[in-house]
Amino acid sequence: MESIWKKDVQIAERESLSSNIKTDIAIIGAGMAGILIGYFLKKSGISCVILEADRIGSGQTGNTTAKITFQHGVIYDRLIQKFGEEKALQYVNANKKAIDKYFRIVTEEGIDCMLEECDAYLYSRNGMKQLEDEFTAAQKLGVQAELTKDSNLPFDISIALKYSKQAQFHPLKFLKAISEQLEVYENTKVKAIEGKKLITENGVVLAEKIVIATHFPFINAPGYYFLRMHQERSYVIALENAPQLNGMYRGIDEDGLSFRNSGNYLLVGGGGHRTGENSSGGKYDLLRSRIKEYFPGSNEVAHWSAQDCMPIDGIPYIGQFSSSSPDIFVATGFQKWGMTSSMVSAEVISELIKGNPHPYPVFSPQRFNLSASAEQLAEDTIKAVKGLSAGIFKIPDEEISQIPCGHGGIVEYDGEKVGIYKNEEGKIFTVSTRCSHLGCQLEWNPDELSWDCPCHGSRFDYHGKLLNNPAIEDLKR
Ligand SMILES: Cc1cc2nc3c(=O)[nH]c(=O)nc-3n(C[C@H](O)[C@H](O)[C@H](O)COP(=O)(O)OP(=O)(O)OC[C@H]3O[C@@H](n4cnc5c(N)ncnc54)[C@H](O)[C@@H]3O)c2cc1C
Ligand code: FES
Repeated sequence: MESIWKKDVQIAERESLSSNIKTDIAIIGAGMAGILIGYFLKKSGISCVILEADRIGSGQTGNTTAKITFQHGVIYDRLIQKFGEEKALQYVNANKKAIDKYFRIVTEEGIDCMLEECDAYLYSRNGMKQLEDEFTAAQKLGVQAELTKDSNLPFDISIALKYSKQAQFHPLKFLKAISEQLEVYENTKVKAIEGKKLITENGVVLAEKIVIATHFPFINAPGYYFLRMHQERSYVIALENAPQLNGMYRGIDEDGLSFRNSGNYLLVGGGGHRTGENSSGGKYDLLRSRIKEYFPGSNEVAHWSAQDCMPIDGIPYIGQFSSSSPDIFVATGFQKWGMTSSMVSAEVISELIKGNPHPYPVFSPQRFNLSASAEQLAEDTIKAVKGLSAGIFKIPDEEISQIPCGHGGIVEYDGEKVGIYKNEEGKIFTVSTRCSHLGCQLEWNPDELSWDCPCHGSRFDYHGKLLNNPAIEDLKR
């Protein structure tokens, strides 16, 4: 199902690339990151083109909850401990500036995108210590923070940490307005980068510099981002006839929920899991049961899900793609905070393209601090290896004819391992369940009717069509 943002906004379709072209800068991906980077370059008088595999805003940006905040979960205590106060300050200052820039752009361009200032809260129902520590860390970094027990949530909390002067908006109304001034080619997937050439199905783009803003980079080497990130998926339900909560909320407990209003709607999010690890499904139903308890009388108007890239040391990768490719830049690893991170990316990458130093080296992809990330790297590697070598989940004595309508799974059929989905009319769709990225074993996601990869988070629909990077090819049918 579509997000409320996608239902609401039609962005005029752009032409696909149909011939070879030359440009100073080519940006791959027209989500919030790619479009904002293009916007910053244009404002600096630097010409660029944007190549988009699908439509503007069709990726994660169309499915976000669009909170604009530097309250990125419980983060600053950890950043100070692992990277020191100076780097933590770079992180918070970059994101603070990003919020101001949203307000400035919206005013300067006269954009009607429901941008409004509001407070952001992290809350816990189970304990106080984590948020108390985060409060202390925030104070060290000069963040105006407050610990409170007051909230508009429909349940008791132990404590909440409030940051003022944060914001929320309608992401696609904003994206539509700023993309209007940019040269974007839609339905133009970049299949490979060869030196300064970007190879698409319908033409080659020759560019002096290249920006990869494809959410998860689709180039495996150099860069090796698949070794330093995995993806996590979570679920959102939009309600009407639900209360105004007057703030953006995020629960830090294991089953914590996220809330924000948008006009008359209330968005409730949760159910996060590593992509490719939801074989039992039921994530929307779990959310619905909590909604029934907390907001009786509300009606569901939409539900959708999205995923984001989780970097192993908890800091996005924004800057030069790899040390061996000085003319390629990347913006990724936004760990579910892509609104401010996209704005930070636009500042960083436009400065680097102009030949200036990295304004916030904490985000540099070349930073690698192994001790801060070793634990997550070990976990990611174990999962990736497990995915690569996983035996096939064989439904005992199951034959295709016995799969109930509306269900999917992996079966052995005629000696072949096959992913099968049977739709409500009994029509069968079969695909290879080896991920087209690096061959991991895909898992069926019954909530989204998709084949999801536990290694790096590529997803495919039940026809085998690619939904999410880093894979670039569809599945074999
Ligand atoms: C449930 C959920 C809620 C979230 N809520 C928030 C929030 O409240 N606040 C916040 O700050 N962040 C939030 N995020 C994170 C945020 O939505 C993302 O980080 C952000 O939208 C990512 O933007 P992007 O431009 O990097 O990626 P995308 O929007 O996915 O854009 C990448 C684009 O690249 C294109 N592309 C991919 N491969 C190619 C190729 N080979 N050639 C050409 N084009 C290609 C894709 O089609 C896509 O359009 C949330 C994430 C999730 C999962
Ligand atoms: S996403 Fe990397 S193997 Fe599937």
